[in-house]
Amino acid sequence: GAPVQVDISKLETGQLILVKWRGKPVWVVKRSQEVLDNLGKHDDKLRDPGSDEGQQPDYAKNPTRSIKPEIFLAVGICTHLGCSPTYLKGDFAQQVEGINYGFFCPCHGSTYDMAGRVFQNVPAPLNLVVPNHYYVDETTILVG
Ligand code: FES
Repeated sequence: GAPVQVDISKLETGQLILVKWRGKPVWVVKRSQEVLDNLGKHDDKLRDPGSDEGQQPDYAKNPTRSIKPEIFLAVGICTHLGCSPTYLKGDFAQQVEGINYGFFCPCHGSTYDMAGRVFQNVPAPLNLVVPNHYYVDETTILVG
């Protein structure tokens, strides 16, 4: 499949845009500083906090799983049985002990944080996949 170009010049903090790449949904999310600050705080509740088994390119193998800290890309497919998780926009965060939930899979209840890292005690075995991508310029990403 051909790479897909994404214009993030109008992406607002908290917003998620969906693009299709090779027939798969790819999310591009702009995270707030607060969300980034909270990312490290719940590692003990994650299955694979370092994303050692998670799939991401080398340049996204860091605590934010991204090239630019605020911009997160993930394939929007649950690693359990392939449903499409719902973006929680941090709404869950206030409800459950200040934990920064990012995505919730309605099929069997798997939860992921705002770096697509899966929580413990849910059916999904792996963190969400981060697709190959790079920045053509400040506000243009090429996925694929
Ligand atoms: Fe997402 Fe089962 S497919 S929890």
